[in-house]
Amino acid sequence: MRDVYNFNGRVLGRRFRLDSFIDEGGMGLVYLGTDLRNEKKVAIKLLHPRFSSKPLKMAPYLRAFETEGKVLESLRHDNIVRMYDVGTDDGLAYIAMEYLDGINLEDRIHRDGPIPIPECSNILSQIANALDYAHKRKIVHLDIKAANIFLIESGEEYNRVKVLDFGLARFVQSTMGTTLSRVIGTPQYIAPEVYKNQASSLSDVYSLGVLTFFMLTGNLPFSGSHLLELMASHTHARPPSARQRCPTLSQFNDELISLVLAKDPTERPKSTGSFARHFEKGLTEDGPLIEFETKRVLPLPIVYVDDPRLGGRTGIRNHLGTLSYFVFLAFAFGLYFYRESSYVQPILSYFQVHLTNLQQYFTYMPPQYLGLMLLGCAGLVGLILLFRLLFRILIR
Ligand SMILES: Nc1ncnc2c1ncn2[C@@H]1O[C@H](COP(=O)(O)OP(=O)(O)O)[C@@H](O)[C@H]1O
Ligand SMILES: [Mg+2]
Repeated sequence: MRDVYNFNGRVLGRRFRLDSFIDEGGMGLVYLGTDLRNEKKVAIKLLHPRFSSKPLKMAPYLRAFETEGKVLESLRHDNIVRMYDVGTDDGLAYIAMEYLDGINLEDRIHRDGPIPIPECSNILSQIANALDYAHKRKIVHLDIKAANIFLIESGEEYNRVKVLDFGLARFVQSTMGTTLSRVIGTPQYIAPEVYKNQASSLSDVYSLGVLTFFMLTGNLPFSGSHLLELMASHTHARPPSARQRCPTLSQFNDELISLVLAKDPTERPKSTGSFARHFEKGLTEDGPLIEFETKRVLPLPIVYVDDPRLGGRTGIRNHLGTLSYFVFLAFAFGLYFYRESSYVQPILSYFQVHLTNLQQYFTYMPPQYLGLMLLGCAGLVGLILLFRLLFRILIR
């Protein structure tokens, strides 16, 4: 395939040689490469060069790369792609992983159309095995979609499913919730609670429901073209029936999918495994979904990569927050000790003028005192946060 970035032949970390371009996702370019230590084939994902030209923009993506490295390192499962190494070389961030020979589910559906129901059940249960395993380790994928599921189509492992791309959990914590324009993920698959910053393992159950709908029908349940439109559909609209587009689907499984796509996470099956097992049952049994237990369960909270159990950030980065407070304190003390200096004088006199005004204000309007104090405190906290932010941006 094309290698528009001319990376072929490059060696990363003195170990991995890039041989040919395979595919690209939202964040990376994936190459077929060689591990020079043992001459074995590997797949190497590079952080997309479009981010390198904008260092500030790149920071969260680099973190996602680190996240993916740490998460994959802690996951060993037959249905999860194995990672060999993660690193940066000459400004190129990379993840080296096992090379998979086959096709991703998105391309497969575009090539062959909807997946036959029994095969769909098989794929579903393999993905569910991988996700249940990850959820038990408190890792939530958060970007389950067809392009992140790989189907091996050759060799001994023919028909094995591998879950790819564990790079997103971190993004959700750092950028979601307030600024919608920065939501990263795939809005066609995102569970409604994720927008409220309440993602959990049940959000993966939901995305797996969307994916199952897509496998069965070749269409997504909600397919708007704008983020807000999609967000509104996932939050409020009733999903269409999968059976209407895939008439051979049993009523049982049709109802099961509607339940998996419930807006309230606690109404969904409590694990991806439970969903897959019921779907398998629905292949042979039909009728309404009466036996299904929808026990209300508390969502499993997400553990982000900052969590020390996953390794976390190392060295100075771990202490950035604390460090920035000290810098702020040092700044305040500096002003005090050098109050005679001609550089500091103008700053102080500026404060002084305002303080005197405030003092007068306090004397004449005592009831406002508390409000002003609060305002002052809020200003101070705001200033500290601003410092913290500046520090983070500068050091990263
Ligand atoms: N280990 C691999 N072996 C072969 N192809 C892969 C491998 N990893 C990823 N790919 C291909 O590259 C695409 C993008 O990979 P992905 O990890 O999802 O990157 P991104 O984070 O950019 O979305 C996948 O959809 C898949 O087709
Ligand atoms: Mg991907």
